[in-house]
Amino acid sequence: MSSRRILVRAPSNIALIKYMGKSDVSLNLPLNSSLSMTLSDLCTWAELIVEDSEKFELEIAESILDLGPTRSTMQKRLLQNAWSETDRTKALKHAARVRSQMGADSLKGKWILKTNNTFPAGAGIASSASSFAAMTLAFAAACSKDAYQFSREWRQDSEFIHRLTDLSRLGSGSSCRSFQGPWVLWNPDRVAVLPYPAPFVDLVVVVDQGKKSVSSSDAHLRVLDSPLWLGRPERVSKRVSALRIALEKNDLHAISAIAWAEALEMHGLFHTSKEPFSYWKPETLKVLNWLEESKTSSSAEPPAVVTLDAGANVHVLVTQEYAEAWKDRIKQKFPEFKILEDRPGTGAEIVEVQEGVY
Ligand code: PMV
Repeated sequence: MSSRRILVRAPSNIALIKYMGKSDVSLNLPLNSSLSMTLSDLCTWAELIVEDSEKFELEIAESILDLGPTRSTMQKRLLQNAWSETDRTKALKHAARVRSQMGADSLKGKWILKTNNTFPAGAGIASSASSFAAMTLAFAAACSKDAYQFSREWRQDSEFIHRLTDLSRLGSGSSCRSFQGPWVLWNPDRVAVLPYPAPFVDLVVVVDQGKKSVSSSDAHLRVLDSPLWLGRPERVSKRVSALRIALEKNDLHAISAIAWAEALEMHGLFHTSKEPFSYWKPETLKVLNWLEESKTSSSAEPPAVVTLDAGANVHVLVTQEYAEAWKDRIKQKFPEFKILEDRPGTGAEIVEVQEGVY
């Protein structure tokens, strides 16, 4: 009997310009461009074991992944994924999609998938982005004739990366921005890496670890009937151009102002849709109000770049130089909240491949 083991990791990403609203729901095509920073250790690990079998099957294991003694503490802080029925169905559909697009429809074998995140899932830290990027990469490697060769070559081939991001997007739109980094622009038809400095540390103030009550798939639909939707694609287009200039110049005041306006606009859409909803908790507002005050204080320090994903938790991007001071400040003000810390990253990677016969 032969077997193959593929271990991959894919980071989450945090958008400063948000993907919200789809032009094509079945293809997850966005109504506007989005621009995000790829993270590093806030990621999904996925192990895929392929065993001989008479037919194709995918089994999703619940148990914790054992990464061995070599990983850093952060990377080992894995949280057990509780797979809902919906998540399982999506993963199965995605496996079928990847096999088909990789031209491996006739491939037989039992795929045993184990995934774990280093951060709470469904709480507004883009776990669907990291998990679909990780699954896409692992499934694609499993479809290849030679997984070693695949692991060495996939990153060198920009057209192949484009195929993978397209495929991953079909599972979760924002996952297409998690393959490369740090700055990734997702224009409706293509993903591009932008060569700007990313001197940030992302401090995520975790005010709530619970799963969000409105899925992002629903949010994408519901924002369209907000009166604030009018003119959004045009506003976003101007914001993307302004942000690109600000990132290129490393103009932290401009980056901060654009990110803040965009985050408030996305959450404003949620709050004003026909059936309004909110991801915020009272604690979110407490943190935002405090940050708003500290952002406008007359200190010579560069301002923090504050944003939120579709969730209650607050991302505070600060320059490396001031990261420790910011962490202390946040801890002192809000000792009750956990802070997750991450840095910019370069995207998904295949960490190990083993081919064996036993
Ligand atoms: O990939 P999805 O469908 O889960 O979209 C989520 C989009 C946001 O995370 C809310 C914003 C973004 O651009 O990351």
